[in-house]
Amino acid sequence: MESKDKFTLGLELPTDPRWADIAQLHIRDILVDHAYCEQKAASSCISLIILHPDREKLVEVLTPIVAEEWSHFERVLLELKKRGYSLGPSRKDEYVEALFKLVKKGGSREQQLVEKLLLNALIEARSCERFKMLWKHIADPELSNFYHELMISEAGHYKTFLQLAKEYMPEEAVMARWREWLEAEAEIVGRLGVRGDRIH
Ligand SMILES: [Fe+2]
Ligand SMILES: [Fe+2]
Repeated sequence: MESKDKFTLGLELPTDPRWADIAQLHIRDILVDHAYCEQKAASSCISLIILHPDREKLVEVLTPIVAEEWSHFERVLLELKKRGYSLGPSRKDEYVEALFKLVKKGGSREQQLVEKLLLNALIEARSCERFKMLWKHIADPELSNFYHELMISEAGHYKTFLQLAKEYMPEEAVMARWREWLEAEAEIVGRLGVRGDRIH
């Protein structure tokens, strides 16, 4: 089934198929928004490393992801430059803001960490799904290849975050919470509808 294949990562609500075509018409907005997504991905990993220097495994697996996300950021900047566009100010990210509101407060330090790791896993999974659509629908072959490469990279990050969460809480508890996250995320995606000027 399309929605359950390895690059949609169990997401409950597949993106509206019209999204990629609309996105293609707003490629400047998409690239600007995408650049900020990569920047936020890098900074989120840096924050986790700064907050948890005592967690060896976390520092070990997230450090190379910081470099990868930063290189994605750099490459999106290049795609903007090629087209004569500049980065400009960041825009409101309704998707991520809505997800942030669902982060459970309180609990143990481990529970708080798992919340953050699952949130990151989820954003990676949805990004991966959107990149897959861009890869398949973008007419510019160079940009299409770029999104193919990023789709694979973000799928790897998704797996890393989910795997890492299982280091700090029992697998069963992590997966139970993951299913709740998936359900809530589907509701958000459905509510936000199709926006061709945003990655999410
Ligand atoms: Fe990335
Ligand atoms: Fe990523």
